[in-house]
Amino acid sequence: MVTEIPGPESLNQLHQLDQIQNTDAVAFFADYDKSCGNYIVDADDNVMLDLFTQMASIPIGYNHPKLTEAISKKENWSTFINRPSLGIFPPDNWNQLLKEDLLSVAPLGMKQVQTMSCGSCTIENGLKAMFIAHERRRRGGAPPTPEEMSSCMCNLPPGSADITILSFTGASHGWTLGALAASHANWMQKLDLRTMKWPVATFPSLKYPLEEYETENRMEEERSLSEVADKIEQYKKNGRPVAGCCIEPVQSAGGDNHASPWFFRELQKICKHNSVALLMDEIQTGCGSTGKFWAHEHFELPEPPDLMAFGKKMLAGGFYYREEMRPLEPFRIFNTWVGDSSKIVLLRAVLDMIKEDNLLALVSDTGTHLLKGLRDIERKYPCYISNARGLGTLCALDFPNNTERDKIIHGLRNRGVNTGPSGDRSIRLRPSLTFTKSHADIFLEIFESTIENKMA
Ligand SMILES: Cc1ncc(COP(=O)(O)O)c(C=O)c1O
Repeated sequence: MVTEIPGPESLNQLHQLDQIQNTDAVAFFADYDKSCGNYIVDADDNVMLDLFTQMASIPIGYNHPKLTEAISKKENWSTFINRPSLGIFPPDNWNQLLKEDLLSVAPLGMKQVQTMSCGSCTIENGLKAMFIAHERRRRGGAPPTPEEMSSCMCNLPPGSADITILSFTGASHGWTLGALAASHANWMQKLDLRTMKWPVATFPSLKYPLEEYETENRMEEERSLSEVADKIEQYKKNGRPVAGCCIEPVQSAGGDNHASPWFFRELQKICKHNSVALLMDEIQTGCGSTGKFWAHEHFELPEPPDLMAFGKKMLAGGFYYREEMRPLEPFRIFNTWVGDSSKIVLLRAVLDMIKEDNLLALVSDTGTHLLKGLRDIERKYPCYISNARGLGTLCALDFPNNTERDKIIHGLRNRGVNTGPSGDRSIRLRPSLTFTKSHADIFLEIFESTIENKMA
């Protein structure tokens, strides 16, 4: 480390940017030319081991040569230069890109895919797909009536139906209005915005380590599931039926909250029983960071979810879906670009590296090592650190409150380690898939010395 974070150059840049927009969330300015692998370099030449990776979205480290190679290949240039409107004028290699890349990692049983740009846009359109499928079923496949077609133009029933989406406390599905209505992680995202009044069930509040509290945790999960079933019933009775249910395999921004595979299997049963579509939001958990390509593979669901959203490490946004969720008319799930084919070109390089370097096995091994290290430190400072938890390298731990948590994040940055907050009092770790045990050891040593220094 050369300076405190933020250093003088970051502060200078911050001052300039602040004249143009709100900068309160900016931590430091980065030099992405110099950043490499698992290390991010800031504008003052401070080098930090990055366990936050642009909010969990750098799959194989900074400036990976395979990605540089993909950009420099002449055959890929036109994709980067001429961004196609994929819904109307797809490029002639689009089928190939979808089949060889996106569909090659589709969750078992899901053969349809829709690309989008960012995660929020993905969720927004996933919600729309669930509504459209719900209403098609209600009409028994008949075309919409003239009354439905005219009333929807003024946001009125019957064309604009009063149907709802069920979500969970602590969920974070994005920043656009529909996604926000299903998100409950941070009041700052929602304040002053009139979003939909949709049902919210309480996500299970489990005790960690999960294996030690199986009985209590099962009771808590049963409570949450019965709330889900009650809410679905209640909304149906009140004439506002639930069309879909959104859930993250591990609630990420809302505090890194886990639930058991059993919980997810039971939730799927309840949804199926009530004809509620299930949208698994893997935007943060997908693409390998739990040691399986998709986190929900850990749950051994008897059948795939109805939709599964991806983003972040996949570089492209979008969702896989089951045949029943496919819209039958054009322009129902649509926008100018519906994704970005250049991102699929980059994704190809990422998927190649995951296979060639067996990165899922690396994530599993490193994750086990990392979590053991976190638990060892937790045992030394039980009054300060709690609830070390993780799947693969997607790990987190809790502090007494958000002030203490924020101090540790700041202290870690000044010692050359970048981590991120989650929920009220957690630190979340979101390293790239190329993060090794040696990186984990560097992190654990700096983390422990930061805690030691704090306690001294
Ligand atoms: C689980 C989940 N869903 C959706 C989103 C929204 O994605 P984006 O920020 O790309 O719009 C996020 C972003 O953090 C997320 O973690």
